[in-house]
Amino acid sequence: MSEDEFLEYVQGGGQVETRDWMPDEYRAKLIKFIEMHGNSELMGVLPEREWILRAPTLQRKLALTAKVQDEVGHAQLIYRVVEDLGKPREACLDDLVSGRAKFHNVFHYPTKTWGDVGVIAWLVDAAAIISQKALLKCSYAPYARIMKKICWEESFHILHGRDVVLTLMNGTDEQRELVQEALTRWWGPLMQFHGNPIPREDDPMFVWRIKSQGNEEARQQFLDGYVPQIWELGLEVPDPKLRKRDDGVWEYTEPDWDELRYVVTGHGPRTADRLDLRRRARERSAWVRQVVLAEAA
Ligand SMILES: [Fe+2]
Ligand SMILES: [Fe+2]
Repeated sequence: MSEDEFLEYVQGGGQVETRDWMPDEYRAKLIKFIEMHGNSELMGVLPEREWILRAPTLQRKLALTAKVQDEVGHAQLIYRVVEDLGKPREACLDDLVSGRAKFHNVFHYPTKTWGDVGVIAWLVDAAAIISQKALLKCSYAPYARIMKKICWEESFHILHGRDVVLTLMNGTDEQRELVQEALTRWWGPLMQFHGNPIPREDDPMFVWRIKSQGNEEARQQFLDGYVPQIWELGLEVPDPKLRKRDDGVWEYTEPDWDELRYVVTGHGPRTADRLDLRRRARERSAWVRQVVLAEAA
């Protein structure tokens, strides 16, 4: 199969398995994209983990712990897919802790209050599931397959987040203020989450049918699904320009793309702390891996 035939095959809906021939560029793009997804799942547990010990009730603690465990499980599944493509998991972790690899912008920010826990599980997970649902049709079949389990679990996370937010909104003024303050802080990163609105024809991820939707399509879907719900709860979105036009398209203030670039290249407010925590945890557990691998050898 030539590269052109391969391109035609994947664009026509064809799927590729691990042992099938694939162009080097396709393999490289897959590794980079899927690895960043794995890194994001793994780093994404840290903001919420900080609140496990401070969860207000036993049930909230159980739900939050379960969500954090799910996310680590997602990282595990996703790194296995990367490994099959030729990049070992240890190499992914090396690149992550040394700051060479990227992870999603939203996981570089602090979680200041319990309001953040609700906003993250509801809206960050909602933004993420929109991207992940579009991966169910990914041309690389093993990645598409694991996305089924992942999307199912993400839906549960959204329900948990929505319940945290609803409870606070039905509580005291102080509790409502926690949610509003968290939403105001998270809105910018949420709007940046799906990336610059490059036309999908110019996006190699779309061309190879790794992704099946463009960045702006994903953002529009997020706004359409969640802004009405946010408003219904009496919350304010900190964007005076936000409105739905008659033709159904959402207008909004241009997100700060410089901030996005700065944050994902390792300069977010919590990037250094979180990578440091990962690095130290990895060093502390190195002896366990050595013992297990020596036993297995
Ligand atoms: Fe996840
Ligand atoms: Fe999640």
